Amino acid sequence: GTDGTYDYIVVGGGTSGLVVAKRLSEDPKVSVLVVEAGGSLENNANVTNPLGYGLAFGTDIDYAYQTVEQEFAGGKPQTLRAGKGLGGTSTINGLAYTRAESNQIDMWEKLGNEGWNWNNLLPYYTKSERLEVPNPQRLESGKMTFDAAVHGKEGPLKTGWLFGITNSTLGATLNTTFASMGVEWNPEVNGGKMAGYTVYPSTVDQDLNIREDAARAYYFPIRDSAKNLKVMLNTEARRLTWKAAAAANGTKGALPTADGVEVTTQDGKTMVMKANKEVILSAGALVSPLLLEKSGVGNKAILAAAGIQSVVDLPTVGENLQDQANNGLKFGIANNFTETDKNAYVAYPTAEQVFGKDKQVASVNGNVTKAADLEKFFTMQYDLIFGADQPNPIAEVLLYQQDGVWDSEYWGLLPFSRGNLHVTAANTSTTKATGAKINPNFFMLDWDTTQQVGAANFIRRMYGTAPFKDVVGPEDTPSTKTVPADADNNEKAMGDWLKQNYRSNFHPVGTAAMMPREVGGVVDSSLKVYGTANVRVVDASVLPFQVCGHLVSTLYAVSERASDLIKASAK
Ligand code: FDA
Repeated sequence: GTDGTYDYIVVGGGTSGLVVAKRLSEDPKVSVLVVEAGGSLENNANVTNPLGYGLAFGTDIDYAYQTVEQEFAGGKPQTLRAGKGLGGTSTINGLAYTRAESNQIDMWEKLGNEGWNWNNLLPYYTKSERLEVPNPQRLESGKMTFDAAVHGKEGPLKTGWLFGITNSTLGATLNTTFASMGVEWNPEVNGGKMAGYTVYPSTVDQDLNIREDAARAYYFPIRDSAKNLKVMLNTEARRLTWKAAAAANGTKGALPTADGVEVTTQDGKTMVMKANKEVILSAGALVSPLLLEKSGVGNKAILAAAGIQSVVDLPTVGENLQDQANNGLKFGIANNFTETDKNAYVAYPTAEQVFGKDKQVASVNGNVTKAADLEKFFTMQYDLIFGADQPNPIAEVLLYQQDGVWDSEYWGLLPFSRGNLHVTAANTSTTKATGAKINPNFFMLDWDTTQQVGAANFIRRMYGTAPFKDVVGPEDTPSTKTVPADADNNEKAMGDWLKQNYRSNFHPVGTAAMMPREVGGVVDSSLKVYGTANVRVVDASVLPFQVCGHLVSTLYAVSERASDLIKASAK
């Protein structure tokens, strides 16, 4: 690999890319190059501090991509955060380690992705993980429980519980409160059933008390020993290069074969790194589809408008973007309450718990598109929410004290809105906030507002429920003045307020979705891009649907499984 030629080039040394790089380089005969736009964040205190959530926002390691004005949500653009540096977005995220509902992963297989189901993915969740069990005293005082059978003991990624959980009564108070609202204690949020109330684990190295990001888990331990793995930092991938025959587009029989990646190094030099076997795009859900487009893979008309020559006409590249909307409700703290627990209490209520048993939930309004395939997806997602077997939670509700108030940040977990992102010109930098036109279409469909309003009112009820209500002062934000509680006025006022005050939940997925090509997929079940011989996508882009858990646990598992698929196909 010293001459600039490698077997595999992984574009993006982030959460997913570093898993693939480590696993492929386990074979000493194979050479691997990682091209990463950012630098090493090993000693960046905004990254390492496990209680430093938010410190990195707006700094040079936050891409802070801007969306277009959100026409269904008050007209304002949104900022989409993503991490720039080795470890990617796992270096700036909130450290939560929660997986998915098992039937959500099973749905991937029902969509046509053979082999992608919960039972097959669980061994990869555990392969990636090393749960560090806190001592019994900490477990007991923090009310932290788990089932060892679903956790890994020897994987690269350390998980555990943050030290912010003190010896307090708050956990027990919330447990009783949620139980009286029908949201029962869930002793293991990572075993495929998420609904309930729990104290979730985090990606943290408890011994060192520092953030466990992808670089710390998957790269730093092998950087000296893995001689066949090279990482180019501060180097931006611009586009793929193709074997000459493919560039002509139309050579009978042979699919276009990528033979390298054009990069711009820190000092502004442009060169091509060569790949013998495969190129794996792991630049994240907001970038990998753009790199495909810049390389000629995408919607012909969009490419033509951007001045890019078509190599594979694949119109769904960059479509199917799904994010969640995040809002916050704040309440005063009754002045006799001084405990400062942080960062781990979470409730996952179902639709029935949010809306009540008797209330008929308005069915989803599919007026934006009539496409039969989209209707099929909506039906599948509808079944996850309202199905009797295993109703998925529809909201994640956090609770902590901050700046002298109780803060309940929350988000609707399963929105139906679909957006997209596309390149605007052949030569733009995809690492710049202006490099693409990004439109998540927040609140495009009625259900998304219904779910968000329902969860807000659920939170209001929670603050008014004993025993928790005894340590709660008056509502601070939005306040019942701004959003009245009475049924006649609440729904519209709450919906309007939420749309003025939401932010992205920073969970974009789906922009190079793993689905059959006929129903709009971009990659097949081996994560190979349709119409290409040797290009794969392994990152949040490939998730066909949103999951109820936070994303990294599932991305580590998907990347572990992807690595095995790539290894198997090389044999
Ligand atoms: P990721 O972004 O990790 O990797 C992409 C890499 O590609 C980056 O290193 C980037 O620099 C690089 N790159 C981009 N363009 C390039 C180019 N042109 N050339 C070369 N390299 C390029 N999840 C969770 O599980 N728990 C949580 O608590 C949270 N909280 C949270 C908070 C915030 C603020 C954010 C932004 C996100 C979260 N998430 C989260 C989400 C989660 O962190 C996120 O979904 C994953 O880390 C994404 O992993 P990927 O591998 O898809 O991309």
